[in-house]
Amino acid sequence: MSAPYILVLYYSRHGATAEMARQIARGVEMAGLEARLRTVPSVSSDCEATAPAIPEDGALYVELDDLKNCAGLALGSPTRFGNMAAPLKYFIDGTSSLWLTGELVGKPAGVFTSTSSLHGGQESTLLSMLLPLLHHGMLVCGLPYSEGALLETRGGGTPYGPSHHAGADGKRKLDEHEIALCRALGQRLAATAAKLETPRG
Ligand SMILES: Cc1cc2nc3c(=O)[nH]c(=O)nc-3n(C[C@H](O)[C@H](O)[C@H](O)COP(=O)(O)O)c2cc1C
Repeated sequence: MSAPYILVLYYSRHGATAEMARQIARGVEMAGLEARLRTVPSVSSDCEATAPAIPEDGALYVELDDLKNCAGLALGSPTRFGNMAAPLKYFIDGTSSLWLTGELVGKPAGVFTSTSSLHGGQESTLLSMLLPLLHHGMLVCGLPYSEGALLETRGGGTPYGPSHHAGADGKRKLDEHEIALCRALGQRLAATAAKLETPRG
């Protein structure tokens, strides 16, 4: 059996959500757990016929076993019309087998997103991303206001999870508060998973 890990699963078209995923992974590792970065392919009407098995760069595509065997999950998507992007939803809609066997019940999970406009639906996206995770019986980890960056941020950052304001051109980098909150979610997921993990004899 492999060491416990937090699955950091995301979709990113232009790189902003991917950078958040890397910061969350840093937080997981700072808390002493392994982070497994995975992504999903884009979808089109014939995606399964055309997507290469291994992406040209970046994280590997997620497999159902990555999700099944994780100790916790961070799920990230760009905001698209106030909701998560279709490629991530497509993957989630294929997880019924894990739902049937209750594989994810009791595991900690958190969500993150990036938008081009500051009030363009970060919170609606984060809340709607939690819905399938609740159906799976996962334990929601948001961000507590003891994280000072939540009160100081002039960009992204919500109690429902980390967020990033990428700007109209998508070029705004993660600022110090957004980075702090990404890392805080990673640390929180890792610490919670470590507490929940059944000791192996
Ligand atoms: C189809 C589509 C819908 C979008 N909807 C929103 C939206 O509702 N609100 C918003 O602020 N940005 C919206 N965006 C912009 C993305 O959320 C934003 O560029 C994000 O930072 C991209 O993340 P990425 O770099 O990880 O791909 C949308 C982009 C696309 C392509």
